[in-house]
Amino acid sequence: MKVTVFGIGYVGLVQAAVLADAGHHVCCVDIDPDKIAGLKKGVIPIYEPGLEALVLKGTREGRLVFTTDAAMGVGHGQLQFIAVGTPPDEDGSADLKYVLAVAETIARHMAGRKVIINKSTVPVGTADKVSAKVAAVLAERGESLPYAVVSNPEFLKEGAAVSDCQKPDRIVIGTSDSEAEKAMRELYAPFNRNHDKVIVMDVRSAELTKYAANCMLATKISFMNEIANLAELLGADIEAVRKGIGSDPRIGYHFIYPGCGYGGSCFPKDVQALVRTAQQVGYEPALLQSVEDVNYRQKQKLFQFINRHFKGDLEGKTIALWGLAFKPNTDDMREASSRVLMEALWAAGAKVQAFDPEAMDETTRIYGQRSDLKLVSTLEEALAGADALAICTEWQPFRAPDFERIKASLSQPVIFDGRNLYEPAALKAQGFTYYAIGRGDSISQNQ
Ligand SMILES: NC(=O)c1ccc[n+]([C@@H]2O[C@H](COP(=O)([O-])OP(=O)(O)OC[C@H]3O[C@@H](n4cnc5c(N)ncnc54)[C@H](O)[C@@H]3O)[C@@H](O)[C@H]2O)c1
Repeated sequence: MKVTVFGIGYVGLVQAAVLADAGHHVCCVDIDPDKIAGLKKGVIPIYEPGLEALVLKGTREGRLVFTTDAAMGVGHGQLQFIAVGTPPDEDGSADLKYVLAVAETIARHMAGRKVIINKSTVPVGTADKVSAKVAAVLAERGESLPYAVVSNPEFLKEGAAVSDCQKPDRIVIGTSDSEAEKAMRELYAPFNRNHDKVIVMDVRSAELTKYAANCMLATKISFMNEIANLAELLGADIEAVRKGIGSDPRIGYHFIYPGCGYGGSCFPKDVQALVRTAQQVGYEPALLQSVEDVNYRQKQKLFQFINRHFKGDLEGKTIALWGLAFKPNTDDMREASSRVLMEALWAAGAKVQAFDPEAMDETTRIYGQRSDLKLVSTLEEALAGADALAICTEWQPFRAPDFERIKASLSQPVIFDGRNLYEPAALKAQGFTYYAIGRGDSISQNQ
């Protein structure tokens, strides 16, 4: 099928590459000329396992093309995906200006029937707004062309985005237009062979499904963080508690890891956006607001440990930091816990010596060159001459480090672990002071 994707970011590029790999002809449109120029030369703007090979293959075989020419994009696809960003507005609600700008572009250039697909995460009612925008522009043009607006939320996880797109758990299609449904089923047929994963529903329910999914996951994390904070105060070990509750199949082991807060481009903004949506219809979403509040507090936690350990005197101290990305296997630093920690350390006069396997360019892009941030190219280098080690991301290479070397490199053998990677008793036996999240042992030895 002929498909156009507007917005070639984490979602749009992955979706486009996976669709092209399945045989569809995909035209990718973005307003960022550098991104498009790079992609035309085979430069992939983000890190995502498996993505580069798919993009290069699709380009080589002529099923994936990149352009800034919106008219060309609109002309190409019978299916028009909107996959642009929906960042938080000033009050936390989702800012729809990019989505509506694409709707307007499609309406300006369309010459026949189009199925317009909202792939971006958008509040309930957005399909109606997109539809109204298209109708208004067509009226202005004096045209009456057929179109349908479909909600098709994306559930991929950064870090596993390609495989999630190739093997989706479910394909949610929100539409009451039978022709559009048929086209969507045909588009996704290559990914729907093992058993039927397509769930068709009305547009508003599809829009809400995406928020409900992310808010449920964020709730699990904040719940665990709250119990972890209690475990610290009560002298219990959250790791034992995690196993104890995860064994109940109604709870399960997924997504109940405590830590230094969730980040990324989705959970924080989607929880906030659903809070605003609820308030707009006169409902006070007490649970969702708390999910957000607990997460905000959790992101301060590592700094509080560090500040307490150094008795409030961080001036001139150097903290080695492992992990900058908001989670492993991505270079995305949007809302990352590492940013909250680094900014608090800098405000207190400390320096940061950091390593991340993928997110160092992104760190430079965000913070530029500064005297209190040194980015180094190995995890060992980050330790050299530092006063303590802090960990913000659970990258695989951080899980079994050479503890003797850590001890020898740091001026004090102290680790602040925001992802609970190590065993407190083992670290204590090796002479470390070890702070982790909700692990009674690690906390009590430091009190
Ligand atoms: N990142 C994720 O893991 C993820 C997962 C599921 C859903 N989503 C949702 O998908 C949407 C996109 O997220 P993302 O992380 O891919 O965003 P992103 O910021 O990585 O990419 C958005 C792209 O859209 C482009 N753009 C903006 N206006 C445009 C226009 N008028 N025409 C063409 N391109 C335009 C930008 O230049 C940018 O390249 C958001 O609504 C997000 O909530 C994201």
